Amino acid sequence: MRLVLLGAPGAGKGTQAVILSEKYNIPHISTGDIFRSNIKNNTELGKKAKEYIDKGLLVPDELTIDIVKDRINKPDCSDGFILDGFPRTIFQAQELDKILEGMGIELDCVLNIDVSDEKIIKRLSGRRVCQCGKTYHILNNPPKKEGICDSCNGELFQREDDREETVIQRLETCHKQTEPLIEYYEKSGKLVTVEGRESIDDTTKEVLDALNGV
Ligand code: AP5
Ligand code: MG
Ligand code: ZN
Repeated sequence: MRLVLLGAPGAGKGTQAVILSEKYNIPHISTGDIFRSNIKNNTELGKKAKEYIDKGLLVPDELTIDIVKDRINKPDCSDGFILDGFPRTIFQAQELDKILEGMGIELDCVLNIDVSDEKIIKRLSGRRVCQCGKTYHILNNPPKKEGICDSCNGELFQREDDREETVIQRLETCHKQTEPLIEYYEKSGKLVTVEGRESIDDTTKEVLDALNGV
């Protein structure tokens, strides 16, 4: 299964990607996670990416596309992959098409998770994350022990770009630069849209139903 997850910030891409990655046994590739790990390790890429991420803007295409190209060429992607947060611009989508064509493969599905802006602001203010990649929500998906990750016992923290002003800018960036991808993938016949539900489990059911039809 070669899958792209589309959706606004906080739509639940990462949450569903982790579940799908286990179910289909294919890697979950999040450009946001790759940037954040580079920021943490203070790499050149991390320093550049941070300037944009902290403002709620997109990291420039030229810093983003090669990372994905290298990653999907790794052997663990031979049976498929889940791209979470990439592509995010029409240019990135066109470049992805070229990369896949060069590899002699194509996407099976582009799954768009649709959630309203009001819900997103609530979700992101309650999100807590762990270094291991697990994501929680203080109300919707709390850890067993407050502030501590269920899987690795790590301390949970809030993402810097989850401050309300930054969330509002991220939503605006998404409306302007990423939403045109819905039409792009509609035209290619690969788009499936599911409504992000109030609960994670209900959303997973919708997602699995949608993917069964692919
Ligand atoms: P990225 O890390 O991709 O962030 P994002 O797209 O803004 O999305 P999020 O990770 O915030 O949300 P999500 O959809 O994964 O939701 P989650 O599952 O966590 O990118 C960060 C930044 O990096 C970008 O702003 C940009 O600057 C840069 N970047 C990344 N990729 C790039 C690219 N390709 N090009 C250029 N720049 C790029 O869920 C959110 C919360 O809601 C959680 O607390 C969760 O527990 C809860 N929740 C999830 N589902 C449900 C549900 N159904 N019901 C209730 N609660 C739920
Ligand atoms: Mg995410
Ligand atoms: Zn953890």
